[in-house]
Amino acid sequence: MEDTIFKAFRVTENEKGDFIKKIVERKIKDLPEGDVLIKVHYAALNYKDALSAIGNKGVTKQYPHTPGIDGAGTIVGSKVPQFKSGDQVLVTSYDLGMNTDGAFAEYIRVPAAWVIRLPATLSLKESMIIGTAGLTAGIGLYKMERMGQNPEQGPVVVSGASGGVGSMAVSILAKAGYRVIASTGSSSAGEFLKKLGASEVVDRDFINDDSSRPIMRPKWAGAIDTVGGNTLATLLKGCSSEGSVAACGLVSSPILSTTVFPFILKGVNLLGLDSANFPKETRLEVWEKLANDWRIEDLESLATICQLSELDAYIDAMLKGETKGRVIVNLETAI
Ligand SMILES: NC(=O)c1ccc[n+]([C@@H]2O[C@H](COP(=O)([O-])OP(=O)(O)OC[C@H]3O[C@@H](n4cnc5c(N)ncnc54)[C@H](OP(=O)(O)O)[C@@H]3O)[C@@H](O)[C@H]2O)c1
Repeated sequence: MEDTIFKAFRVTENEKGDFIKKIVERKIKDLPEGDVLIKVHYAALNYKDALSAIGNKGVTKQYPHTPGIDGAGTIVGSKVPQFKSGDQVLVTSYDLGMNTDGAFAEYIRVPAAWVIRLPATLSLKESMIIGTAGLTAGIGLYKMERMGQNPEQGPVVVSGASGGVGSMAVSILAKAGYRVIASTGSSSAGEFLKKLGASEVVDRDFINDDSSRPIMRPKWAGAIDTVGGNTLATLLKGCSSEGSVAACGLVSSPILSTTVFPFILKGVNLLGLDSANFPKETRLEVWEKLANDWRIEDLESLATICQLSELDAYIDAMLKGETKGRVIVNLETAI
């Protein structure tokens, strides 16, 4: 088995400091040590993978490297009693695809602690359409509800709504009974977002207040934000009393310039989302909800399926903000 050859999407750094992406052949024995060897059937492309693929050292310190923070497949070797060959499993985040060889490859080898059994109601492909994006959106709603958020309080805004996390957040919130205001910069995403369950689709300027007001008339009762910067500041200013704003992303900016007024005058909660280090026990609870109560009926409508050989083009598109929904890599036939 250790000499089995497989295909992997590999990023290398040359002497000039350029990063080269290429599909290469590797052997199982080249993979890091780990408890569980998994034959990957599907992986998903996330913003973090796109950053890793262009040499962002905040994500991946050492190259050559195989990105891919989300992978689902079948166990073909296990050193631990809780998993056996033939089990269908998924791995999202932890260190997979960051500084551990990731799932843009036909095989991954990982610690057992990272492995989650495939929920009975999901296929391997569906679990990847959810992936880190859905888990992050799910953690957002889970934490908001722990702070008392409920549909009667009013609508919830999703920023970057046509992206991976955004489209999953719109779908999950709608499934959970919330009125969703989807904010997008894409003029063509309206129909897609309405189909996912958005009650209202607004331009991203709607949540980009450039006045110096520390607080605005409340227009929403909560938010899941993937954008950061002034968008996140605006979401805090315009949130109604006791609402929660869950922050996970920085596609616009990592800087947050705000005042304490949303917190001390309206009791707004700012909740941080870190899917990579979210504890296993609560992670399983969120997966249980994603697979059942929050299960999205037509998951496939959120996904574009590509081959390993097409990944490079999708990475470029994602970095330009041009992908819609989730990009899934089919590794059942790795070409
Ligand atoms: N904390 C965590 O655990 C966690 C987990 C997953 C992802 N993230 C972060 O969440 C963010 C989104 O990730 P993703 O995988 O969903 O990425 P994605 O699929 O590329 O989606 C990002 C979306 O943001 C919008 N956007 C792009 N550039 C923008 C800009 N300059 N200003 C405002 N909006 C912009 C676009 O949507 P519209 O065209 O609809 O506006 C785009 O589709 C990233 O920052 C990622 O690192 C964090």
